[in-house]
Amino acid sequence: MKIVLIGFMGSGKTSIAKRLGHLLKLPILEMDELVLQKTNTNNMHEVFEKGGELLLRETEIAIAHEYASTENIVISTGAGAILNKIILDYLKKPDGKIFFLNATFQTITVRLADDVLRPLFKNRVEAESLYYFRQPLYLKYADHVVEVDKKSVEELAQEIVESHLKG
Ligand code: S3P
Repeated sequence: MKIVLIGFMGSGKTSIAKRLGHLLKLPILEMDELVLQKTNTNNMHEVFEKGGELLLRETEIAIAHEYASTENIVISTGAGAILNKIILDYLKKPDGKIFFLNATFQTITVRLADDVLRPLFKNRVEAESLYYFRQPLYLKYADHVVEVDKKSVEELAQEIVESHLKG
C-alpha cells in the first residue's frame, strides 16, 4: 500500500500523513524533510538561498526516483511536487495512489497566517495566484480528491483509508 498526499501549502499533508502512518502501521516519507537533509540545510529559506527553487525541484525529483519502487509507505509531498510530472510518475509506481487534499485558499490563509517557513507563501497575492495556477495540476494527477475544509485530521485520515480500500 503506497499512499501519496498532494495539495497546496497548509492543506494538512504532514499531519494527515502522520495519522495515516499510525493507523496503517506504515512508515512516512516527509519529502520536505528529506530535501533539507539532502541539501544539508535547516529550512526552505536556506534551500532557496543555496540553489534557488531549482535546487528544491531537482532534489524532489531525485527523492521521488529513489522511492519509486518502495511499497508500503505514506508519502507527504511538498506542495510544488506537481510541477514536475516525473515526480508523480515515480510516486505512482508500483501501486501508489495519489490523494489530493483540496482546501480553499481561505482556509489556507487562516492556517498559514503566522507562517514564516515557506518562501513561496511570503507574499499573499503571489501565493493566491500560485494556488489558482496549481489547482488544475492537483486535479489532473489525483486518483482521489479529498475535501479538507471543516474536517479534522482524524476524519480525513479515515476517509482516505476508506477510499483506498474501495480502490
Ligand atoms: C513549496 C511547498 C513547501 C516546500 C517549499 C515549496 C511549494 O512544502 O516544499 O517551501 O512550492 O508550494 P509544503 O507543501 O509542505 O508547505
